[in-house]
Amino acid sequence: MSKTINLTLKVWRQEGPEKKGRLETYPARDISTDMSFLEMIDVINEQLTLDGKEPIAFDHDCREGICGMCGAVVNGHAHGPEKGTTLCQLHMRHFSDGDTIVIEPWRSRAFKVVKDLVVDRSAFDEIIQVGGYISANAGGAPDGNAIPIPQSVAELAMDAAACIGCGACVAACPNASAMLFVGAKVSHLGLLPQGRPEAAKRVQSMVSRMDALGFGNCTNEAECEAACPKEISITNIARLNREFLKAKFFSPE
Ligand code: FES
Repeated sequence: MSKTINLTLKVWRQEGPEKKGRLETYPARDISTDMSFLEMIDVINEQLTLDGKEPIAFDHDCREGICGMCGAVVNGHAHGPEKGTTLCQLHMRHFSDGDTIVIEPWRSRAFKVVKDLVVDRSAFDEIIQVGGYISANAGGAPDGNAIPIPQSVAELAMDAAACIGCGACVAACPNASAMLFVGAKVSHLGLLPQGRPEAAKRVQSMVSRMDALGFGNCTNEAECEAACPKEISITNIARLNREFLKAKFFSPE
């Protein structure tokens, strides 16, 4: 049943990338437990605007858990405390009356704070870009069964393709590693026959760009898997390592 709760928010406020940030405290009164976390911030922003203050900047788009735009660290958890849930799909019924909620941006050398809770995730775009393209001829629409793909392989590729590139894996990792993200991309393209011709080149380019951008290395903490709203498995990191070594030793590139 719907009810309302009163909360205290401690929100990271930072005017710009070079400015010093700080946590500011805001009361959040009469918050419906049916609201999503982002709707709750909308309510706070409405009040801040009415008070002539700067609203809290935060990223969002679909609000349906599919675009990967939203994200903040809530009480120390990327996307909040619920497993397999994006911030936009986190509902206030998971909080209790009187709670204090600390809201911070993703923190990583490669993701600079733009403003408040908004960080620059264009490093992910750069990694995708260097991954290149698939050279399989498009032509007319092929028969779906013309290229036989074992069901188990198709499932693995589809599971990896569920990655929405939100960056929670980087935010959750003590090394700020992007290996779950890169592992998911390398897997979803490389597992399927259409993605094999460029697989060796792709994995080497993506890994070297990932390193150059300042992401850390994986030390098997598995925090990325725990934080991922799409529950991408760290077995994708093992596949990334295998693909990378295979490419290094056997590829002429
Ligand atoms: S706003 Fe699109 S995933 Fe949250």
